[in-house]
Amino acid sequence: MKKLVISAILAGATLLCADETMQASMSKMENGLTLIQKGFLYNNIESINLGIKDINDGNELFGKKEMEVYLPKDKKHMTNTAQIASDKIVKSLKELKEHLDSKEYLKSHESYANVITACAACHNLVRSW
Ligand code: HEC
Repeated sequence: MKKLVISAILAGATLLCADETMQASMSKMENGLTLIQKGFLYNNIESINLGIKDINDGNELFGKKEMEVYLPKDKKHMTNTAQIASDKIVKSLKELKEHLDSKEYLKSHESYANVITACAACHNLVRSW
């Protein structure tokens, strides 16, 4: 019984901890997306660069341990698929930045769209859309 109570408390703490990490990570990434979008709309390169940093930082916070907490019961084995979405964000941001630096703005914007698609790929998984 004692063991059960302790493991229930531990499980609760893990969830709480994961919740905080999830919210910090996702709000940072949401903010980054907005900065990038505004940067493209208002032709403000600095805002795009700030957004790239925010998304990279937010994405780093959310690791495999958290992914497993949020995957639905029947998808717990799919952390790799979630990780692929997270890796896709890193890759697309890198391309976004490269195109931005070489002033290929349309291509850069395409990479931005790929970032959003990667967000949706993981949300699709965790929310069983
Ligand atoms: C590896 C998985 C994963 C990736 C990639 C991911 N998310 Fe999330 N996101 C989650 C999980 C898990 C939740 C919480 C569960 C839910 O909302 O269904 C979440 C929730 C959110 C929320 C709502 C947060 C809240 O407090 O309810 C926002 C906003 C969000 N994500 C933004 C983003 C943005 C922007 C990106 C891409 C730049 C992104 N996410 C990429 C897994 C991911």
